[in-house]
Amino acid sequence: MKAEFNLAIIFATRKNIFKIIIIILSFLLWNYANIGLKLKELTFTESAKDILNVYNTTQENTTNSSLEKHNTTRENTTNSSLKILNVYNTIQENTTNSSPKILNVYNTTQENTIISSFEAPLTEDEKINMKYCQEKTCKFVFPYYHPEQETRANIHTRIYTQLARSLNRTIVLSNVGNSRVQACFPYPFYFYYDIKAFQKQYPDIRFITQEKFFKWTKERKIKPIAQHSQMIQDGRHNPLKFRKEKVMGVYEKVEMRRERKKKFCLDKFDLNLNITDYKEFHTGIKIKEFNRKAMLNLVTNTLKTPLITESEVIMILNTSPKEMFPIINKVIPYSPHIIKQSKSIIKKLNPYIAIHWRMEQGNPRLMPQCAKRLVKEVKKIQKKYGIKNDYFATDFPLNSNKAQSKTFHKISKFHKESIEIIEHIKLDTWISLNGFSQIRNNSKYEKEFKGSGIHGILDKLVCINAKYFLKGPKGCARTSSTFTRIIVDERKKLKKKYDLINIASSW
Ligand SMILES: *[C@@H]1O[C@H](CO)[C@@H](O)[C@H](O)[C@H]1NC(C)=O
Ligand SMILES: *[C@@H]1O[C@H](CO)[C@@H](O)[C@H](O)[C@H]1NC(C)=O
Ligand SMILES: *[C@@H]1O[C@H](CO)[C@@H](O)[C@H](O)[C@H]1NC(C)=O
Ligand SMILES: *[C@@H]1O[C@H](CO)[C@@H](O)[C@H](O)[C@H]1NC(C)=O
Ligand SMILES: *[C@@H]1O[C@H](CO)[C@@H](O)[C@H](O)[C@H]1NC(C)=O
Ligand SMILES: *[C@@H]1O[C@H](CO)[C@@H](O)[C@H](O)[C@H]1NC(C)=O
Ligand SMILES: *[C@@H]1O[C@H](CO)[C@@H](O)[C@H](O)[C@H]1NC(C)=O
Ligand SMILES: *[C@@H]1O[C@H](CO)[C@@H](O)[C@H](O)[C@H]1NC(C)=O
Ligand SMILES: *[C@@H]1O[C@H](CO)[C@@H](O)[C@H](O)[C@H]1NC(C)=O
Ligand SMILES: *[C@@H]1O[C@H](CO)[C@@H](O)[C@H](O)[C@H]1NC(C)=O
Ligand SMILES: *[C@@H]1O[C@H](CO)[C@@H](O)[C@H](O)[C@H]1NC(C)=O
Repeated sequence: MKAEFNLAIIFATRKNIFKIIIIILSFLLWNYANIGLKLKELTFTESAKDILNVYNTTQENTTNSSLEKHNTTRENTTNSSLKILNVYNTIQENTTNSSPKILNVYNTTQENTIISSFEAPLTEDEKINMKYCQEKTCKFVFPYYHPEQETRANIHTRIYTQLARSLNRTIVLSNVGNSRVQACFPYPFYFYYDIKAFQKQYPDIRFITQEKFFKWTKERKIKPIAQHSQMIQDGRHNPLKFRKEKVMGVYEKVEMRRERKKKFCLDKFDLNLNITDYKEFHTGIKIKEFNRKAMLNLVTNTLKTPLITESEVIMILNTSPKEMFPIINKVIPYSPHIIKQSKSIIKKLNPYIAIHWRMEQGNPRLMPQCAKRLVKEVKKIQKKYGIKNDYFATDFPLNSNKAQSKTFHKISKFHKESIEIIEHIKLDTWISLNGFSQIRNNSKYEKEFKGSGIHGILDKLVCINAKYFLKGPKGCARTSSTFTRIIVDERKKLKKKYDLINIASSW
């Protein structure tokens, strides 16, 4: 309470400057994009128009549907090591004949029905399908859950375009929130991302939002048949206790337990889908030999067997931090309303020093010392280059007592003390600069702004475009993250064009 009160005062006065913010996401890997360039390209009017879409979320009232009615007692977790359907064989790269058993079971003589339906008038469900898919049959693939934060989830989300292409299915774009791409969250995909620009990157891929997809399932008279696939990375610590497999392959799985469904939000869709089959795709524990291309082949081949091809929906639960498919180095562009906020901040501050301090993994006792060094360094840079403004991005909770990274649990007196020390320089944050002011007061977004998420994306964009970028040194901060990596990569691209002083330096 006290901290919050102090923050309010500090922000109100604004000149004294404040407390901190922001977020930071993600662990491993790379990726590149023209985020910075994009910022310059977009015009304000464009963004302003699109922003309405974001607020007009016409949120589906989904809470109701989570009432589970299926009887899931048939799952037996202790002995779930079931039939191996297919295992990736390193010698023959592309298996085409992956699950013959299934082929036999569902060897229905379908040709006749297909032909006759040509002449028949559309059924009610076909009419509904026409409305949503412009085809008599809908074919969706829905990666509805990924565990990691935005920078990493961005990577996973875009590599699914490859599967959508090989399966010729429409991708359902999952909801987002708290820096995650997960169906559980209330905000539509376009709260974080620019669907139009995403579509432009992949003109051959069809997209539909989770909201529309959900409506489709609800309208349908005969519940769409669905398949469930889970992606599992073996051989790493796994708090969810999934079964481990030695070799890359697809394994049969029994129906997910109710608690699991709830945990991953499958329960939201379960009532309106007829999920007839569950499978697991495993990387195998020999992870060093992991071949993404082979995995894509395996998944494609498996999901292209006749039974599954006929299923209208393929639900994908991705619990693997490692990318399952070949990497694509093109960031899914951020939503125009976030771009607009970042442009406004950049314009207000330019030229500015951006400081990124992720305190979470620093040594708390070192914090005050780190803060003193930071103050000294910033003053030095300001003097040397005649820069007056500073932007501060951090995982220290600015908006609440809660840390902005979920994994940042212990906020000590040392952290608070260090924040007081850096208040000796004039620092701006997304809060002091009124970032997202139109929606920050809206109770609908309360959770988002208290946790991590959309303002983390904003921080990232502001850091990318800074004249000078300072990141936390070893001991003071978490030094390697995908979040920082992407900032560095983008700054490398922008350095010449925008005459940036540095790429990244530690204080
Ligand atoms: C919100 O979206 C719905 C459906 O797209 C549309 O009918 C409505 O006019 C929109 N409202 C506003 C305020 O834009
Ligand atoms: C959502 O559903 C709840 C319970 O059914 C209802 O009370 C509430 O008014 C609904 N909200 C909207 C926006 O439809
Ligand atoms: C919500 O659940 C109630 C009670 O089960 C039901 O009467 C109502 O129609 C449901 N609403 C929606 C939107 O599904
Ligand atoms: C659920 O399934 C079990 C075993 O098949 C059965 O004994 C039980 O009665 C079922 N419960 C309900 C609510 O259908
Ligand atoms: C699960 O499988 C084990 C071993 O086959 C069996 O002893 C146990 O009764 C089963 N549990 C349930 C709930 O079916
Ligand atoms: C698991 O199931 C298989 C096949 O049904 C059986 O052979 C094996 O003994 C079971 N294992 C355990 C631990 O129950
Ligand atoms: C397997 O796939 C790779 C890449 O898609 C291709 O180059 C190769 O020719 C394929 N091999 C066979 C046997 O189809
Ligand atoms: C599968 O269907 C084909 C064509 O209808 C038929 O000739 C074949 O015998 C069937 N195979 C099995 C295993 O039922
Ligand atoms: C891909 O799907 C679309 C839409 O369902 C369909 O019109 C098209 O014929 C399919 N293409 C192939 C090669 O199957
Ligand atoms: C699900 O689909 C199977 C296979 O078509 C069918 O036998 C079953 O009745 C369906 N279940 C429900 C609840 O619609
Ligand atoms: C939120 O609302 C309060 C009271 O309505 C107002 O004083 C405050 O300035 C608002 N904050 C933002 C960020 O809009």
